[in-house]
Amino acid sequence: MLAAFLAIGLAPLLAIAQVDTDSVGPTTSYASKADNKICNVLDYGAVADNSTDIGPPISDAWDECKDGGVVYIPPGDYALNTWVDLTGGSSCAINLDGILYRTGTDGGNMIYIEHTTDFELLSSTSAGAVQGFGYVFHAEGSIDGPRILRLYEVEDFSVHDLILVDSPSFHFSMDTCSNGEVYNMIIRGGNEGGLDGIDIWSENTWIHDISVTNKDECVTVKSPAQNILVESIYCNWSGGCAMGSLADDTDISDITYRNIYTWSSNQMYMIKSNGGNGTVSNVLLENFIGHGNAYSLDIDQYWSSETTAAGDGVQLNNITINNWKGTEEDGAERGPIRVVCSDTAPCTDVTIEDFAMWTEEGDSQWYLCESAYGDGVCLESGDDYTSYTTTVTVTAAPSGYSAPTMAADLTSAFGTDSPIPIPTIPTSFYPGLTPYSSLASALPTSIYPV
Ligand SMILES: *[C@@H]1O[C@H](CO)[C@@H](O)[C@H](O)[C@H]1NC(C)=O
Ligand SMILES: *[C@@H]1O[C@H](CO)[C@@H](O)[C@H](O)[C@H]1NC(C)=O
Ligand SMILES: *[C@@H]1O[C@H](CO)[C@@H](O)[C@H](O)[C@H]1NC(C)=O
Ligand SMILES: *[C@@H]1O[C@H](CO)[C@@H](O)[C@H](O)[C@H]1NC(C)=O
Repeated sequence: MLAAFLAIGLAPLLAIAQVDTDSVGPTTSYASKADNKICNVLDYGAVADNSTDIGPPISDAWDECKDGGVVYIPPGDYALNTWVDLTGGSSCAINLDGILYRTGTDGGNMIYIEHTTDFELLSSTSAGAVQGFGYVFHAEGSIDGPRILRLYEVEDFSVHDLILVDSPSFHFSMDTCSNGEVYNMIIRGGNEGGLDGIDIWSENTWIHDISVTNKDECVTVKSPAQNILVESIYCNWSGGCAMGSLADDTDISDITYRNIYTWSSNQMYMIKSNGGNGTVSNVLLENFIGHGNAYSLDIDQYWSSETTAAGDGVQLNNITINNWKGTEEDGAERGPIRVVCSDTAPCTDVTIEDFAMWTEEGDSQWYLCESAYGDGVCLESGDDYTSYTTTVTVTAAPSGYSAPTMAADLTSAFGTDSPIPIPTIPTSFYPGLTPYSSLASALPTSIYPV
């Protein structure tokens, strides 16, 4: 009886969950929400004069349309002086076709959406933007200003066709959300740490066709997170994509990054922790192209920028790195493979395959493996899981390392003490690939009626 039950019960349990890209996003179309009701902020006191505070009109429009409708912010320039905390929506959308210029100075989140279901945040012209003017804070040496956008406990949602510029602090975080789709966005921040692009700790979410410029997280998964698919990302002068920082009770599984192009960043992918416990499992990092980056693959379980947490280390298991190509800045100084696992919780089932990167400077590079078990380069096989360190020096370019560059690679950083121009959303985020979805501006107006 028990055996029969197990035989039937185990199959679905063992199947590895994957993001079902058809089941993410809002459940009701924008057009039917608009058909139900449109709350135009101009009817709630907004004025496109770039000085009247649009905060209260957005909140008032939300209250009228959050139970089924569209909050519409028409093209025009608006001042955002007070932040909006929009909660309890269901079957609603916000269409930001205007540009919001930050004028307020409070901390927190300029736009905070919470406890909301069946939700869409977009710009139907693909030109809606939030200009955070973070440089005003950064020029004074502060990264403690507000974040631009945060979603908390939002389910069945999408965020797309938006431009986020120069946040005083993080640009976009998703905390405890589910069934989301985030796409066709450009995020352009200042050239320093603490100005993360996208951070996500959530479930079942598909993030694709995004460009990030800054000097911290590009698109980063934090704990806890399950079933996150990240595709076609252009880290266009950034910190690079990552997972972490991880510490106590880490709980991350089924994470795929695919088609990730990284230019002039701190790394192509980093998993970072220092002590701590819990697990990261079933991670696939495939089809990565890098140029001009400091590190490339960098798993560091003794990350010195993080305070050591109690515990033997986060257990990393079933991590596959497949098809990485391109060049790194200086492979003798910072080799393209650095897999440094916890000596007291060695990584298991790590696979590095089809990895061909070469140095832009000099004629050698190294690979470093520490306490990591699996298959490929300097990884040890077997299952005794004792601690070890192996460094391999490579003096000939691996065959097939060359990889295309993107024509639009940023050639110098936006600084931190002058305004950053508002860009347009690009139409390619990875060499040779076009986005999964057309820009909203290219779709028939019947899809996003206003
Ligand atoms: C809107 O106001 C900001 C100052 O808050 C200014 O920097 C910006 O250029 C103005 N936008 C336009 C389009 O005039
Ligand atoms: C992880 O560490 C924290 C703090 O040290 C502890 O409270 C928790 O029980 C540990 N969790 C596991 C799964 O060991
Ligand atoms: C390892 O992770 C991959 C996803 O990256 C998954 O497809 C595979 O089933 C996992 N293997 C095991 C044994 O769980
Ligand atoms: C990369 O940055 C440059 C300079 O800002 C910009 O022209 C280009 O459009 C960006 N590319 C993408 C795909 O974001």
